[in-house]
Amino acid sequence: MLTMMKLSGSVLVMMVVVMLQQALDVVDATSHQMQKRAIAELLVDSTLKAIETDGLDVVLGQINNLNNTRFRDTEDVNGYVVAFANNGTCLAHGQRPGDFVGRTTEDVILAKIPELKDKLDGWKINTLMVEKAQAGGGWVTYNWITPTGVVYEKNSLVKQPKDYKDMYVLSGYDVTTPEDVAPAPDPKEE
Ligand SMILES: *[C@@H]1O[C@H](CO)[C@@H](O)[C@H](O)[C@H]1NC(C)=O
Ligand SMILES: *[C@@H]1O[C@H](CO)[C@@H](O)[C@H](O)[C@H]1NC(C)=O
Repeated sequence: MLTMMKLSGSVLVMMVVVMLQQALDVVDATSHQMQKRAIAELLVDSTLKAIETDGLDVVLGQINNLNNTRFRDTEDVNGYVVAFANNGTCLAHGQRPGDFVGRTTEDVILAKIPELKDKLDGWKINTLMVEKAQAGGGWVTYNWITPTGVVYEKNSLVKQPKDYKDMYVLSGYDVTTPEDVAPAPDPKEE
């Protein structure tokens, strides 16, 4: 009887410890995401302000210059700014300017990862973002890809500069990390 009680007592303690750890993990993940949201807001808002004070071309050039730290989170390689024309052409990209600038997202997908054709629709993402930007700006959740074709979920803040209604600026963070999700299927194995 005593042994039973001891045993169930330690099981109970274990359960409480596990539950506490799970609760802490949730709090940790939530505050991590809040931090990412705050950084994205800071990056987008400072970009819009800089466009007003320094002019669009200067700012686009600085975003595209990977040496320039003005519009990036120097502690996180994934904290950067992107600018697109409403027609889907990328104007500036803070992480992969060589891949994106002058191209649409759909062009990049088809050129780099043709097996994602019809699985990830670059035009649809652009439409979502244009609509959100024109409605006053806000957060958009969508699927995105790593350069090797791993699909994961991303959350981005999208806003239009005051004097340029034919374009939008965004900055986001990963909701799921690429390690959490399976890679896109290899067509050779299908
Ligand atoms: C960035 O810095 C590297 C190393 O200093 C230099 O070689 C490169 O030309 C710079 N690129 C730009 C766009 O300024
Ligand atoms: C898209 O818009 C940009 C900026 O307004 C412009 O430079 C570019 O020529 C346009 N591209 C197409 C394909 O219409």
